[in-house]
Order: sequence, then C-alpha cells, then structure tokens
Amino acid sequence: MRILVTGANGMLGIDLCNVLSEAGHTVTRTDISLRPGLQAPPWLQLDITDAAAVLRAVEECRAEAVIHPAAFTNVDGCEKDPDTAFKINALGTWCVAAACSKLEIPITYVSTDFVFDGTKTTPYTEFDAVNPINHYGASKLAGERLVEKLCHRHFIVRTQWLNGAHGRSFASIMLDLAKTRTEWEVVGDQIGSPTFTLDLARTIASLQTSTLYGTYHVANRGECSWHTFARTILDMSGIKGITLHPIPASQWPSPTRRPAYSTLRRYNLELQGRDDLRTWQDALEEFLKHKSEITGAG
Ligand SMILES: NC(=O)c1ccc[n+]([C@@H]2O[C@H](COP(=O)([O-])OP(=O)(O)OC[C@H]3O[C@@H](n4cnc5c(N)ncnc54)[C@H](OP(=O)(O)O)[C@@H]3O)[C@@H](O)[C@H]2O)c1
Repeated sequence: MRILVTGANGMLGIDLCNVLSEAGHTVTRTDISLRPGLQAPPWLQLDITDAAAVLRAVEECRAEAVIHPAAFTNVDGCEKDPDTAFKINALGTWCVAAACSKLEIPITYVSTDFVFDGTKTTPYTEFDAVNPINHYGASKLAGERLVEKLCHRHFIVRTQWLNGAHGRSFASIMLDLAKTRTEWEVVGDQIGSPTFTLDLARTIASLQTSTLYGTYHVANRGECSWHTFARTILDMSGIKGITLHPIPASQWPSPTRRPAYSTLRRYNLELQGRDDLRTWQDALEEFLKHKSEITGAG
C-alpha cells in the first residue's frame, strides 16, 4: 500500500515508518520539522494544521491510507497552552481526517489513555465512557470525535506510556539520571502499562489490512506504577546502588492532573482473537537491547 504518515520524525513515527517499509509498503514520511540526529531524509515538510497542504500532500503521493500520530504531546505544555493543544491535536486531526474523507481513504489516528479520568480500578476497554481531566486528553478526544464524524473507515488506536528508542522516553530519562545521581523520587501511585513503540507500530501496521474499523486499545500486557517501572529499567540494565523514593502524584511538580489508573485492556483485539501483545517486561528487555544497539551504549 501507499501510506502517508504524519509526525514521522516522532518517537512512534520513526519506528512506524520503518515497520511499514519493512512490510513492503511505500511510505511518505511527513513532519513539521526534522529533529536533529533522528530520522534521515527523504521526508516531506508538512504542517497538519494547514488543510490545503495536507490535502495536496495526500493527493500527490496517491496515498491509499494515512496514519496520523502527529500531535502536541507535551502534556504540561498542553495544560499551559490549551489553544495550541486544540490547534494541533483537534484542528490538525480535522485537516487530516477531511483529506482522507475527500479522497475516500482510511485513516488511523493515534490517541491516548488520557481520554479516561482514571477512576476505574480495572483495565479500561474501548466501551468504557471517556472523561478527560486535562487539556491534552480533551484535545486528543476532540481529534477522535472529528475522525469518527468525518471518516467512516477509521482506526482510532489508543495507547499509553510509550517508550521508543528514537525519542526522549521515561526509560531514557531514568538511564540518564543514573549517570549522575544515586537517588531520586518517582511517582508511585499512578498505574498504567509501559508500551514499546515497536510493538505498537507492528500492531498498527497489521490493522491496515483489516476491515473491522473502529477504536482499539493497544498497549503491552500487564501494569505497574512509574516507580516499579523505573526500578525494573535500572535492574534490567544492571545498574546498582540507586535508591528510588516513591512519592504520590500530588507531590510531583506539574500543573497537570493525570489519571491515577489508566491501564488499557486490548478488548477489541481480544474479541477478534488477535491480541498478541507481550508483557511490558519482555518488551522492555527488547527496548533496552534495541536502544543500546542504536546509541552504542552498553
Ligand atoms: N508518548 C506517549 O507516552 C504517548 C501516550 C499515549 C498516546 N500517545 C500518542 O502517540 C502519538 C505519538 O506520540 P510520540 O510520543 O511518538 O510523539 P512525538 O515524539 O512528540 O511525535 C509527534 C510528532 O508530531 C510532530 N508535530 C507536532 N506538531 C505538528 C504539526 N503541526 N504538523 C505536523 N507534525 C507535527 C512533532 O514535531 P515536533 O517535535 O517538532 O513538535 C513530532 O515529530 C501521539 O499522537 C500521542 O498523542 C503518546
């Protein structure tokens, strides 16, 4: 298939484009800018908030599908500047969905666990009620609504706690801190599923041949707190002598309320008998190996 990808230089975007190319698709990589040291050209500069430019790009590459992970992903940035959050995450998605609608091609929109309020104590399915508690979640949900309204052939893929080798993930922050410090604080009372971008990319790629359009939760199996996740990253990397202090989210210096519990159950994949996501621990092991191969770090 000919597939146009937005946000192709992002943490997920890079893995996604590589997975799609390896699967034999012809990929047009687009992003607002090229991040130094990340994705190499060829790629097309494209601002998703420019409706005419988006339509032109999709037309010119004769895309048969669009995958849309581009977003304003800085959660605190969205909280401080909701207009920019809605401009990129809602209007940007509107422009992409409108182009797909006009050209009658399917769209895959990457969304988030932050559409939920986190008051459940068991994993969220695709059939649970949404109720975002911050501007990032609200702007991503607005994107979902626009995709549903404009494109009847759509996949909305909600994911969470992403770790990828090509970006600033939680795991890279923990590994960087371990180079200079012997103790720090990590939130211990927020629960979710750490998810490897390569596993997400593989699932998004496999959905492209499905005709069961709709909303899908895609995250690695199992759940943990940020504190447990941090401990496991250090242990699996063989880093010793670090003390991690669990703190409540209320003590974390951030302007953003986050869901206390947001584990995603891959219920629609389960119902279709195609839930092959591995545990977050197995995925983390491959992530750490993959990351050290890319960065050359041991
Ligand atoms: N990271 C997570 O833990 C997480 C969790 C749940 C859901 N998600 C969703 O997963 C998707 C991918 O996340 P990610 O962490 O890979 O994000 P990312 O690394 O921030 O990548 C997003 C890309 O979109 C680009 N972009 C921003 N504004 C744009 C615009 N106006 N036009 C075109 N491109 C634009 C960004 O460019 P700049 O960097 O230059 O702005 C960046 O390259 C997003 O839709 C996000 O909402 C992520």
